[in-house]
Parts: sequence; C-alpha cells; structure tokens
Amino acid sequence: MANKNILIVPGDGIGQEVTAVGKKVLDKIAAKYNHQFNYDEALIGHVAIEATGNPLPDESLEKMRNSDAVLFGAVGHPKYDNDPSAKVRPEQGLLKMRKELGLYANLRPIKLFDELLSASSIKSEILKGADILFFRELTGDIYFGEKGRKNDGDTAYDIAEYSRYEVERIARRAFEAARTRRKKLCSVDKANVLETSRLWREVVQKVALEYPDIEVEHQFVDSTAMMLIKDPCRFDVVLTANLFGDILTDEASQIAGSMGMLASASIGDGTGVYEPIHGSAHDITGKGVANPLASILSAALLLDISFGLKEESVAIITAVEGVLKAGFRTRDIADASTPANMILGTDAMGEEVLNRI
Ligand code: IPM
Ligand code: MG
Repeated sequence: MANKNILIVPGDGIGQEVTAVGKKVLDKIAAKYNHQFNYDEALIGHVAIEATGNPLPDESLEKMRNSDAVLFGAVGHPKYDNDPSAKVRPEQGLLKMRKELGLYANLRPIKLFDELLSASSIKSEILKGADILFFRELTGDIYFGEKGRKNDGDTAYDIAEYSRYEVERIARRAFEAARTRRKKLCSVDKANVLETSRLWREVVQKVALEYPDIEVEHQFVDSTAMMLIKDPCRFDVVLTANLFGDILTDEASQIAGSMGMLASASIGDGTGVYEPIHGSAHDITGKGVANPLASILSAALLLDISFGLKEESVAIITAVEGVLKAGFRTRDIADASTPANMILGTDAMGEEVLNRI
C-alpha cells in the first residue's frame, strides 16, 4: 500500500475541467488497489495572476517541492497572446516551475490507439504501429537564455545556450529508456548551423559509447519534421533540445490523432510533474467538451514513473483502450462515422473510463 501526497495544479482554461477528471481516476485507483493518496491544490498561470499578481506564487512552489508528484493542467490566456507588451504572463509560471523543480527531461510518448487510426489526418497504413517516445530537454536552450531588446527596442534577441552536463543527463535518460524499448535512439539537432547543436551532437556521441546495444542516429530537425509524417514508424526514442522538442511534439501529436490524447511527464531529480501536452484551449473552456484522456493518461504516467505502480498504470491505459474500443469519442477524436450518441463530453468520458477500472 502506497501513501502519497499528490498536488493538483489545474491552472487555466480546460486545465480545470480535465484535471478534475484525472484526479477522479487517481481516486478510483486508490480505492481499488488500497492506496492512500492525499491531495492538495495550488495555483499557477492566469488564475494565479488574478489571485496574487504572480504566475507562480511561492506558496505553490513550496507545495510542489513538498509533494510526491504533481498532476498539472495547462496555463495560458488569450488576453496575453494578443498583448506582446504584457510584462507578467501565465507561461512564466510554467517555465519557472520547470526551472525551479529542475524538470530537465520532458517525456512525451506518442502512441496511436488502433481505434483512432481514422481520427488522424495521416493515412492509416503509414501510421499503423507508430510508437515514439520523445525526450525533450526542458530547462535550457533559447527558452532560458538571456533575452532582451537593443537599438531603442528595434532589435530583439534570445540566446540559446547549452552546457555539457545538461545534454549529458538527458541523453543518459533517453538511452536508458531506449534499452527498455526497441533499442533505437534518434538525436535531433541542427548541427549544420548551430553551435549549441554541435555541442549537443558531440555529447550524445560520447554518451552513446556507454550504450553499444542502442542503435543511434543523428538527424537534423528539418528533415526529422518531414520524416515524422512520411514514416513515423521508423522512430523509437527521439532525443532533442527544448525548442525543437516543443515543435516536433505538437507535430507528432497528429500521429496520435489529437493533442487531446497526449500525456507527458516532466522529471528531474525531485518531484515529477505530469500534464497533458495540450494547452488551456479557451475557445472550448467551460463547454464541457474537452477530451480528458490526456489528463487521465498523465495520471497513468504519474503512477508508473513517480510511484512505480506499474499495474495500476496499465489498468488506466487498458480502461482508456476499452472506452475507445466501445466506440466512445470526444469531439476532437470523432470522425464522420461516429454516431452522435457516442460523442461524449468531458465528464461522461471520464465516467466511461472510471467504470472500466
Ligand atoms: C508546451 C507548451 C509550453 C512550451 C508553453 C505553454 C510555454 O507549448 O509545454 O509544449 O513552450 O514549453
Ligand atoms: Mg508546446
């Protein structure tokens, strides 16, 4: 029996709706497998700015540090997207959380449930069997380097920086993961242009020597973007830097049918954070139609990675598979052949999953 403290951080927009469902799934697991999960909640993003003026209040950070794992929703608000001069932004809370908790490895598994083959805009014969695990570096790169303006504001810059140890630690994690999978690793960079990428490649080549059982290739990011759509099945573990990983994983989400299906784990040396890769989606917020499966699958990753509860994690994934097999869909993963009565809202979809655990 595990006794764990889980912090629920729903954040903004549909983050609230889907995280509530993710939490219910954790509750069901606790009841069924006789674990004790203790919950607390914390603010981040736009809701935190509204309440405190700060996108990541110290109190939230403290709670995160003191919890065994965090189930996270999303941050963002359209108000800031249309105001480039805003000094305080919801995303700053997310970035600060990643940096402060040392969440340097962002795992984004892209796995297509067979039932959703037709939900993707990519041909099913190309997609079938695709199963990719992205390792996106999360606390370095152009995201965290010096940024600013010069020439009276007419010139702007963002500096991309990587240190050897930053590449090394995530590379090791990715190689270790490849060992438990199909033993292939593709490191993605832009070493034909960028100095940070040349360091990246140098370090990955060196770490690779410790893993002679793993087949390694180095690809440029532009050609990887093309190959992901042309032949997604050729990839197993993909290791890449922060910005390239941000872009490639949104692209790769289409392999899984919808962003609404994809969970992620952000891990480092302390508390792990588990979240859908989708954003706050204010266009559908409050309508009760958001797909809760990414949050539910994030809960599954949490149990597996942070608590080592493999059986419980598999129980959730199997339940999700069961729901899809039974034909239930949320709007985002429905297609022309889905009968209207099989298209469920957020809570009803959650109930179907709960019933199968
Ligand atoms: C993500 C998001 C974030 C990022 C944004 C919200 C800052 O796109 O987690 O992929 O760019 O990392
Ligand atoms: Mg992104």
